[in-house]
Amino acid sequence: MNILVLGSGARENAIVNQLAKTSNVYAYMTRKNPGIAKLAQYTIADEADLENIKNYAKTNNIEIAFIGPEAPLEKGVVDVLEKENIKCIGPNQKSAQIETNKAFMRQLFKDYDIPGSIEYGVFYNIKEAEEFIDNFNKKVVIKPIGLTGGKGVKIVGDQLKDNEEAKEYTRQIFNEKISGFEGVVIEELLEGEEYTIQAFVDGENLKPMPAVQDHPHAFENNQGPITGGMGSYTYPDGLLPFLSQEDYDKTVKVLEKTVESINKEVGEYRGILYGQFMLTKEGPKIIEYNARFGDPEAMNVLSLLNTDLTSICKDMVNKDIKPVKFNKKASVCKYVVPDNYPNTKYQDTIVKVDEENIQKLGGEVYYAAVYEDDEGIKLTSSRALGVIATADTISEAESICEDCMKYITGNIYHRSDIATKKSLAEKQENMKKVLQN
Ligand code: GLY
Repeated sequence: MNILVLGSGARENAIVNQLAKTSNVYAYMTRKNPGIAKLAQYTIADEADLENIKNYAKTNNIEIAFIGPEAPLEKGVVDVLEKENIKCIGPNQKSAQIETNKAFMRQLFKDYDIPGSIEYGVFYNIKEAEEFIDNFNKKVVIKPIGLTGGKGVKIVGDQLKDNEEAKEYTRQIFNEKISGFEGVVIEELLEGEEYTIQAFVDGENLKPMPAVQDHPHAFENNQGPITGGMGSYTYPDGLLPFLSQEDYDKTVKVLEKTVESINKEVGEYRGILYGQFMLTKEGPKIIEYNARFGDPEAMNVLSLLNTDLTSICKDMVNKDIKPVKFNKKASVCKYVVPDNYPNTKYQDTIVKVDEENIQKLGGEVYYAAVYEDDEGIKLTSSRALGVIATADTISEAESICEDCMKYITGNIYHRSDIATKKSLAEKQENMKKVLQN
């Protein structure tokens, strides 16, 4: 089968790695990903050019297209490809609103009484938004309505000092139309531990994946600016040190109810559904949805996948999803980024990766925002590559991941605290405190 994978990051490298075991993979990417280029036929072209994507797919007799990132989903790439009878792993433009329009997501929870909702307001008028902040007696989270590449959300007590700064940021969102909307979603700040559960959705039924915890802050001990994610881990039982089976099951029910509600509201949702939740004193609460795999979370779950991804995709497009198996192992993924990321000056410098020795240790590398020229692989200003290790225990996986790092050199750093014994204990302790409050 000829499968197209759209996107050029580590998430797509992990997707291609699985699909290439049993399919002919064609990759459509904005820049040459060295990991994907080894496994697939490819073209380097604009991921926003839907006409060109369609033509590339038709020329190569593509039967299924797997859409990696959110931006083409927002533009309606699935609608364009499905008109040509090319089935997609990814929702159409209307259903993708679960990620691309935060006001849509919150309203859906309200209208369909989906559990896990929170207090919030949506405003298309600056004055009303400011009044809401003034009268809301809890700390707030300010979110532009549309896509911001993971960089638009700001929290009082973190990036915003107080409510005055929250109002200032709200004005900036309106004035600069950050994310394309003159509007804002203002939410209560939740206390607890964040986690992700992703699912394969065939338009009706879903198969959930192991729970993952990502680390958005750039620096160790969860300090510094919010990034797309610096690393993530899973446990062998698919749960997390602070997440029980009961909480996992409740979360899956939220995902199921969300799919049912999207289907009623705007039509069939097919693809990957990514739910980011906060485990609070009152149980799981929804923070946001993505209409695609998470990055780095895709690297964790796909490294554990024990069912052929091509077969899963075929079943998904035939609305006949079957049980999906994952190895009962732990996984630890750490992102290697340029020094001083996200404000780096080391773009265009060489990063050396000894993949052979990394694989000997039991690790795997998935390339993200790097490029290759005659001199070798070079950094850009974004996350460079993910290193993933799986093992019987989390401490083994973490230590393999750390050992692999000595085979990557350049102006780079990674968060060595992710998934350490100390960090995992702190998370359990934090959850205990939240439950006692
Ligand atoms: N890791 C967060 C995301 O993929 O959006």
